[in-house]
Amino acid sequence: MSSDQKNPTGMTRRDLLQGVAGAAAVSSLPAFPMPALAQGAPFKVGFMLPYTGTFAKLGKFIDEGFRLYVEQKGGKLGGRAVTFLQVDDESKPESATDNMNRLVGREKVDVVVGTVHSGVAMAMAKVARDTNTMLVIPNAGANEATGPLCAPHIFRTSFSNWQTSFPMGKVVADAGHKNVVTISWRYAAGQQMVEAFKEGYAKAGGGGKIVEELYLPFPEVEFQALLTRIASLKPDAVFSFFAGGGAVKFVKDYAAAGLKDKIPLYGSGFLTDGTIEAQGEAANGIKTTLHYADNLDNPANKAFSEAFKKKSGQDADVYAVQGFDSANLLDIGMTAAGGDAAARDKMVAAMAAAKIDSPRGPISFSKAHNVVQNFYLREVRNGRNEFISVAHADLADPAPGCRMTS
Ligand code: PHB
Repeated sequence: MSSDQKNPTGMTRRDLLQGVAGAAAVSSLPAFPMPALAQGAPFKVGFMLPYTGTFAKLGKFIDEGFRLYVEQKGGKLGGRAVTFLQVDDESKPESATDNMNRLVGREKVDVVVGTVHSGVAMAMAKVARDTNTMLVIPNAGANEATGPLCAPHIFRTSFSNWQTSFPMGKVVADAGHKNVVTISWRYAAGQQMVEAFKEGYAKAGGGGKIVEELYLPFPEVEFQALLTRIASLKPDAVFSFFAGGGAVKFVKDYAAAGLKDKIPLYGSGFLTDGTIEAQGEAANGIKTTLHYADNLDNPANKAFSEAFKKKSGQDADVYAVQGFDSANLLDIGMTAAGGDAAARDKMVAAMAAAKIDSPRGPISFSKAHNVVQNFYLREVRNGRNEFISVAHADLADPAPGCRMTS
């Protein structure tokens, strides 16, 4: 998928925003003079996700995974009918506060579900804190969101950037690689994943070194000069973070530059998750760590993969799982609250204590409200991200700076 590919929802940004206005008009029609809960006012879920740009497919799959769960519950969460609003955040941090304020202020959603991009998520977490809005983060890994910005009403069902890449440091060190180059986009996710990889690599004690850290601005995909640099440095291995359309192009360009068979490519699993089909042969052999793998052999994954394929016609990926689990978490909260989103304390307590049998394996939540889960070493074989081993079981983010942890 390239960044100029058509928005997979088939909607323009204006359509999405009009969808918000339209839905709000309908749901604000006066019904009977009864309290909101008694008259059955729906639970309003505001999706703030990228529906265009390099992360468009990621946003779409989160949205579809979430809706699949709600459909399986008869269109309800905690027994309460659900309505959806969508805002395309375009992965633009500079628009994030306005977009969030629109959902919270004008549309008065009960919960915001978003987003993919770490920089956008940090702005969202700030607004959620200022306005006491329930926020469920279904992807963005910004360590701060469940660190210094943590709050009782902020939950993350996906990962912290640290979690995804710390385990890879040991994998690369144990493989005996002594000289490693890193490459990523220069923004929170890329920088935090590279830092976590370096921490894991140093802690593994193999005595290797990071030869050079290469970056380019998000969401640029002109990799040629950096690939030439890698070729001249001749490291033993490369660690990378790219995702979505950018990851498709990077993996193809790496192979086309003749590096694929000379210098093994590693990364956090976003490099090949949801992108593998478009990468084709170029992805074969890439090893990554992530909290999901295509062939995880558990009943929840089997049922989920089949249902997602039936609904969307596409193979599930980690983003679809994260969307599905976000709805599951809110279902647990809304059930404990008796379907009343205003019963916030009950909702939060139940979500914090939730144990979910996810397609990725068992998950629970840390005191900082970040997901605790297994991280798997995977290898691309025959167009699939195949499970190799558990790289780190039950890994919790250390959550430095979060006041809820002490
Ligand atoms: C992020 O910006 O936190 C991010 C984006 C895409 C991914 C993973 C993390 O696939």
